[in-house]
Formats: sequence, structure tokens, C-alpha cells
Amino acid sequence: MAEKVLVTGGAGFIGSHVVDLLVERGYSVVIYDNLTPQVHGEAQHPPDYLNKDAELIIGDVRDREAVEKCLKDVDVVVHLAAAVGVGQSMYMVREYVDVNALGTATLLDVIVNNPRLRVRKIIVASSMSTYGEGKYECAKCGVVYPRLRPYEQLQRREWELYCPRCGKNSPPLSPLPTDEEKPQFPASVYAVTKRDQEEMVLSTCWSYKIPAVAMRFFNVFGHRQALSNPYTGVAAIFSTRLLNNKPPVIFEDGRQSRDFVHVSDVAQAVLLAIQRSEADFTALNVGTGRAVSILEIAKRLAEALGKQEIRPLFPQKFRAGDIRHCFADISRIKTLLGFEPKVDLTKGIEILADWARSQQPEDRLEQATSELEQHGLTF
Ligand code: UD1
Repeated sequence: MAEKVLVTGGAGFIGSHVVDLLVERGYSVVIYDNLTPQVHGEAQHPPDYLNKDAELIIGDVRDREAVEKCLKDVDVVVHLAAAVGVGQSMYMVREYVDVNALGTATLLDVIVNNPRLRVRKIIVASSMSTYGEGKYECAKCGVVYPRLRPYEQLQRREWELYCPRCGKNSPPLSPLPTDEEKPQFPASVYAVTKRDQEEMVLSTCWSYKIPAVAMRFFNVFGHRQALSNPYTGVAAIFSTRLLNNKPPVIFEDGRQSRDFVHVSDVAQAVLLAIQRSEADFTALNVGTGRAVSILEIAKRLAEALGKQEIRPLFPQKFRAGDIRHCFADISRIKTLLGFEPKVDLTKGIEILADWARSQQPEDRLEQATSELEQHGLTF
């Protein structure tokens, strides 16, 4: 009989791709999702893209009774349900901790206190944001793990990082691929809750001998990103700006970099973690191993959407808690699970742009930015 997988947050961007892949591979899939209005709109309709062969149960991860019902006969749980928005988590502190930390706690509490359940594996979505800044190299000191850039430095609009030991006596630090052994210094409430989720799942599952994997997703992009959600990732925000004939707004100088991993590769990584046991009880980076600047993302999206004439804006602003560079060292996931990213940035942006053109996203960036400004979180 087919294994049954519960995907919490399965109606969302990453979740829906995981669901499609699992259904395609013959799993029986249950989606548990609250169709949160920020992602799915005020009407909270199930999205059109939702896989018809998966069962949808609408509910909140903090609702113990509902979670218990969903878990009946489930073999594997992929826990993706979470409040997602780094900036927003800094003024909706309680809400983020409640949904992310208590949601995960509820799920675990039900699983370990219910002898009738038969969950054999749990995959939890963690995030590169748990690292804070990435790993760097100082020309004099070698490998260093700097904390966030000092506020005074950012006010001088000096964007690159200096060595935490020798400061300006050495040239700015060079980013290195960030591996899982890098200490985690979460720089937002969102990131703290992601680290909590990861640790709660790994420690509880270790004690109960339930294989578990925490997957540290890097900057996931692709079709079905919630384009009208201004609290989401930069690729979606820039696409929405361009489709509304407005310029992308670039923070800092645009040379900050991230590791953009295509959502289909993330789904692939989740499937491997379900099928194989080599990564059980560990945390894994899920990225591509390549750093791309934010300016490059803006340029490529403008080209792909046929909006090259729209030049990005550089208001010389900075978002509190933003890091400068972080890209993944993916040796561990390659070695343990045989993971290999398949969709490169060019192809991924082409797929995103083709899909985005068929949407009519509403640009709410000004609203999100003014919320950050009101809270003194951008300057
Ligand atoms: C993002 C996600 C985080 C996820 C992580 C890893 C959000 C808000 N953040 O964090 O949940 O865990 O990836 O997948 O969803 N930028 C601009 N202009 C904009 C928006 C962003 O210049 O309009 C810049 C930011 O200042 C930053 C970079 O783009 O330097 C990336 O921002 P963002 O997409 O929010 O990603 P992360 O903060 O890396």
C-alpha cells in the first residue's frame, strides 16, 4: 500500500510543489493548511494549482484535535506550515512565535503522546536565515563567523563586512560557502523560530527514535510564489513590481548576494530525505552552492518579463537584520542524499516569468515598506 504523507502548509508555494512530486511518485498525500489570507487572499479559496489527487484539510497547526485527526495512518510528516516574513516577524513577535514554535510543538506533542499513530519520519522546514551572516574569510585571520554589521557602519552606507578580529586593518571579508557547522546566529524572530523548530524536531525525534531531517532552505524561488504578498522573497517582490510597470526597489547597493534555489529542486531534496535514511537526525542545507547578487536578480527578471526599460531604484536604504552574503555549501546533502540541483537560475527565472505573466498581482510593496518604516526597521 502507498505510504501516506501529511504535508503541513501543502497549499503554499514550496508545499504545493512537494505535494505534486509526492503524488507523481505514488504517495497518498494529505495537505493540512489554514489558507492564510496573506498568502491566499482574503477569500481564502484553495489555490487553482492545488493537486486534485491530494486530500485538503483546512486547519491550523496549533489546533491539537484537528492535527490529531490529520495524522491518522500517516507514515511521513513534511512540516512546512509557518508564518513567513523576516521583517514582519520583528513587529508581530508573538504571532510568529505562536504559529512557528507552538505549531511545531503541537505537532510533536500529538505524535509522541498518541500510541495509535505510526509516523515513521518527520521532515521540518528550517531556513538559511538561522545562520545570520554567512561564513567568510579574512585575508589575515582565515575563516571567521561575523555577526551583523554594526549600525554605525550601515549609517555610513558601508555595506561590506570587516573582520570581527582585525576590523579595518584588513580588506573587507570574502564570502565563503556556508556549511551546516557554521554557528547559527539568527537575526530575526522568524529565524529564531526556525532554529527552534529545527531543534525541537531533531531533539524530540532523537529521543523517540523517529528519524527526522531539518532542511535549511536557502532563497527558494519559482512559480506559485505569492506574488501579491509583499512580505515574501525578493524574486516575487521584483516580479510584481515589474508586472505593475514599477521599478524594483533595491536595498543597499544591490551587490549583496544570496543562493537562489529553484522550488522543484527543493521538492526533490524533500523526496530524497523521505526515501533515504543517510541524513536522518541531521540538518541539511538545500541550495545550489552559487551566490547571485540581488541586482543580478532584478536585471534577469526585467529581461525575462520584457521590462528592460524599467531601471531599478536605489534609495540607499537598509533593512534591519538583513545580512550581506550567504550561499550554501551543499556537500552534505550531495554526499548523504545524492542531491544535485537541476534547474539553473536562467531556466528558473524563465519558468517564473512565464507563469508570472499570466497573473495579475497587486503591488503592495509601499504598504510593507511603510510598516517597516513606522517600526524603525528600515533606515
Ligand atoms: C528569505 C526569506 C526567508 C527565508 C530565506 C531563505 C522572506 C522575507 N525572507 O530571506 O523567509 O528563510 O530567504 O529562503 O521571505 N531586497 C531588496 N528589495 C526588496 C526585497 C528584498 O533589495 O524589495 C533585498 C534584501 O535587502 C536582501 C535580499 O534582497 O538583501 C534578499 O531578501 P529576501 O528575499 O527577503 O531574502 P532573505 O532576507 O535572504
